[in-house]
Amino acid sequence: MKYDIAVLPGDGIGPEVVAEAARVLQAVGRRYGHKFALHYGYVGGASIDRYGEALTKDTLKLCKKCHAVLLGAVGGPKWDDPLGKVRPEDGLLALRKELKLFANLRPVKVLPMLANHTTLKPEVVRGVDLLVVRELTGGLYFGRPKRRWQTSRGRRAVDTMSYSEMEIERILRVGFELARRRKKKLTSVDKANVLESSRLWRQIATELGPQYPDIQLEHQLVDSCSMRLIQRPTEFDVIVTENTFGDILTDEASMLAGSMGMLPSASLAGIPKKSNSIFGLYEPIHGSSPKRAGLNMANPIATILSSALMLRYSLGLKKEAESIEKAVNKVLNDGYRTYEIMSDDMTKVGTREMGDLIASRV
Ligand code: IPM
Ligand code: MN
Repeated sequence: MKYDIAVLPGDGIGPEVVAEAARVLQAVGRRYGHKFALHYGYVGGASIDRYGEALTKDTLKLCKKCHAVLLGAVGGPKWDDPLGKVRPEDGLLALRKELKLFANLRPVKVLPMLANHTTLKPEVVRGVDLLVVRELTGGLYFGRPKRRWQTSRGRRAVDTMSYSEMEIERILRVGFELARRRKKKLTSVDKANVLESSRLWRQIATELGPQYPDIQLEHQLVDSCSMRLIQRPTEFDVIVTENTFGDILTDEASMLAGSMGMLPSASLAGIPKKSNSIFGLYEPIHGSSPKRAGLNMANPIATILSSALMLRYSLGLKKEAESIEKAVNKVLNDGYRTYEIMSDDMTKVGTREMGDLIASRV
């Protein structure tokens, strides 16, 4: 079977980590007899430099024609001017919005061989296996008004956190459905003691609860959730939350796994079903890390694991997805590490070598 995949490497380390994921995908194709046709396009700063905009109509069209999108990262100091008209991040946000990718899944699994390699105590992180479901096309990121202006008493700016019932309900349902396939516990995270949008969120979560009697639903305020994430992270199963809270909590949660370089994500246009495939965009949760770009240092595992999620959710290739995940485990068990997860007695490798090692084990 032939699968069309739009590949948007982006900026910084994006192209390097995406190249390794592409090589791993091709290895999976050879091993299982699939053809993955990779269609390359520009997004973010790379697109600004070429076309003056962070996402072109052509790139968007390309994505819509494909079964899934694989993305590296966007952004960098070159395009960071606070007064700049276009920003690389706008390209990513427009992609998410245009492709209606409202459900962002960020699994955080602590692999046993990395449990010692975190800033937290190994006994705190050992066994962590949680999933953050982040709302991705609403909230502060997209709410209007959103602008900056000059007043007679200085400058002023506004962002708006706004949610409709439909937006809240559909993302909560993703949380409930995925909890059903896991340990059946759902933590709905909000700031209902202060924010009106959070009070609506909590109300809708409470109303939906009885429709999922098998799921243990709890509510938690985002500030206390951030504390509990490093205090007793093994208590979590599925966390569902709005866009900005999810952005912040998942960077924090990545430290449980030892490195941002380990965490994949899937952004989906609907509730993932067991049988049907669903369109999605797959990207590591880390950024473009401009300082490490071009040095063959970056950890490609987050992107490689993102391609595994792509096989699972968008292409319906479960055993192929597992073969990638197992290959990553094997390589780590064999003692290979990129610089940021390096520890004594391990073998330090670069981006390219890590990709090779994983590709050779799928
Ligand atoms: C992420 C990133 C993006 C976000 C940026 C690059 C716009 O931090 O995917 O978590 O804030 O969503
Ligand atoms: Mn982020």
